[in-house]
Amino acid sequence: MTALILHGGAGARRERNYDAEVAHMRQVVEAMRPRLDAGESALDVATAAVVMLEDSGLYVAGKGASPNLAGAYELDASLMDGSTKRAGSVAALQGFRNPVVAARAVMERTPHRLLAGPGAERFARELGFEARELLTPQAQEIYEAWLADASSVGPQNIDPLLEEHHDTVGSLALDADGVLAGACSTSGMRFKTPGRVGDSPIPGHGLWVHPEFGACVATGSGELMMGSSTAFLAVEEMRRGATTAAALRTAIERTAEEQVLGPKDQV
Ligand code: GLY
Repeated sequence: MTALILHGGAGARRERNYDAEVAHMRQVVEAMRPRLDAGESALDVATAAVVMLEDSGLYVAGKGASPNLAGAYELDASLMDGSTKRAGSVAALQGFRNPVVAARAVMERTPHRLLAGPGAERFARELGFEARELLTPQAQEIYEAWLADASSVGPQNIDPLLEEHHDTVGSLALDADGVLAGACSTSGMRFKTPGRVGDSPIPGHGLWVHPEFGACVATGSGELMMGSSTAFLAVEEMRRGATTAAALRTAIERTAEEQVLGPKDQV
């Protein structure tokens, strides 16, 4: 048996039409199915799926990512290979087309797990990764609307949907050898403070893969996930014998408790 799970991120709005995203997700699944059937590794397929999501311009990751408060992109991505439990991440990476590919290179070509900021950028440049302007007209329009709101009503009173919307993308794959792998990518919260890093590149918070018991890739406010190690917790519950549904319920409840405790005020 092989399997592939994708997500296009939290922050969906009831009034918005997501037909394009749903159709694109189907295309990704259809593109990845034969690769899994042909025996390709879970890590290759999880990475390739996230590359397609990053390249689509439909999600808040890669092309179409949302800028930070200063109008710049700082992208986070990670992946994890269940066969080795190795992981790689980049954080606050600026100017590259596929942060998830840079994260994979961190895992495979360095002794480290996470490279951030200018060091990550230098690493990606040295490896010849494709630099790209990621700003789409839609992202630019939203950023300008936010700036206009912020200057007319003040940053405390801007439309919370504009402020909080984020669409991290994630994938989990199970290959024909029974190996699990996962990957995720995001520009994080819209209009975040420059330098802010969320859960996605931090092992155990945004992504966790256990070779035998399961895998979890998270989406939502990284500030909450980082208060409860959401992905690790979900997989750990499975390791302790919980069903997938029960494990996810526990992880979500713990993450929601973090919201009740009120980290938002400190963000
Ligand atoms: N979950 C993505 C982020 O908060 O950055």
